[in-house]
Amino acid sequence: MIAAAASPLQFELRCTQCGAVPAASAGIIACAVCGGLLAYELDASARIDADGYRATLRARRSSIEHVDRSGVWRFRELLPPLQPGKIVTLREGDVPLYEARGGGDYARASHVRYLHLGMNPTGSFKDFGMTVAISHARAGGASVAVCASTGNTSSAMAAYAARAGMRAAVLLPDGGISEAKLAQTLDYGAQAIAIAGDFDAALEMVRSLDPIRFALVNSVNPLRIEGQKTTAFVMLEASDFKVPDWVILPGGNLGNSSALGKGFREAKALGLTAKVPRLAVVQAEGASPLVRAFETGEDLRPVKAQTTATAIKIGAPASWRKSLSEVRASNGTVIAVSDEEIGDARAVIGAEGIGCEPASAASLAGLRKLIAQGTVRAGDDVVLVLTGHMLKDTAYAAGYHAGGARFSNPIVRAANASEVRARLDALLQ
Ligand code: F0G
Repeated sequence: MIAAAASPLQFELRCTQCGAVPAASAGIIACAVCGGLLAYELDASARIDADGYRATLRARRSSIEHVDRSGVWRFRELLPPLQPGKIVTLREGDVPLYEARGGGDYARASHVRYLHLGMNPTGSFKDFGMTVAISHARAGGASVAVCASTGNTSSAMAAYAARAGMRAAVLLPDGGISEAKLAQTLDYGAQAIAIAGDFDAALEMVRSLDPIRFALVNSVNPLRIEGQKTTAFVMLEASDFKVPDWVILPGGNLGNSSALGKGFREAKALGLTAKVPRLAVVQAEGASPLVRAFETGEDLRPVKAQTTATAIKIGAPASWRKSLSEVRASNGTVIAVSDEEIGDARAVIGAEGIGCEPASAASLAGLRKLIAQGTVRAGDDVVLVLTGHMLKDTAYAAGYHAGGARFSNPIVRAANASEVRARLDALLQ
């Protein structure tokens, strides 16, 4: 394992609403005083030797140790401390930053890239957070992990719990998640419990459980956020610490936007970067309570969520306050896009050989809208966060291509060899 040029940083677990410091930290999810979400606050005076740390990161990227290569644990000094022997990793987080030529043309923007978090071991961004949450849960003696999920959290939880030798259970909206995500969750050995309600009802149920008996690994768990904040570090590292103008990502329960905002703020506070990018959170129109809260300045009013992008079909997002505060701190914005816009954007990303699941494409649909309305300029440096792999929802993709939509690529049928040849010849034209 490659040692760092920096020593571990000091964090204090504190309530994000009233500032109270909990008496014990193990497994605690909510503030005992006001019920608010907790966060690991970085000591404001903390600084690191940026050049030395960058050199450490370079060395770790060429190491053969999983904890060095992991795009989460490579930054272990910037996370709440954990003994190295306690880490449960699948070498997550070392994801690519791709040029987005097709997406750039589609949005009429000249400098667009995709950070593809779908290129993680379980195919979504959840692995960033889950490796940290499960590692700490096991180190603290927990034997059962639980979550509510639209399918990606449950897949990641199931995989990491299996690696940790823990049991896992997920509450799912019955019939409301993609077949691939359900199959993955079952395959990795979690107990799936289908409920009659939606994600919001499932989350309410798991939040009422005793966190000492059941390790809750939804993004209300501050350790999930710590893991996911390293997404920001991976993005910066891949651009040699040049900060993009905009980072655009889909929003559901709003943990990930909270995490990225925290990561960029900490990178600046530590002296790794000189500024933070502007954050744009994109919701599906039928599940966009944050848009209203952003525009009116009022508290979030939950909605009954409706969208074909099932991953973000969430009407009462738990982390809305944190997400909104990160958006505002970055001078960012929040917008909604229609299911049709999500479908077309997803097909554009697929057609350039990259692909993603529907919810992820909200980022490109959002960029297109932000360019059209003049919020983002055509020459701005933009990173679109793709949160899940294309294979996460194949039924959606197959339906899109069969359904005659704008960018659909339907199957053609050939009755005999000469029809096959004619089809092939047409491709030479
Ligand atoms: N994109 C994908 C592919 C997701 O699976 C999710 C959330 C989001 C975006 C939204 O992220 O909740 O942090 O704002 N999926 C959760 C799950 C809810 O259970 O898998 P968020």
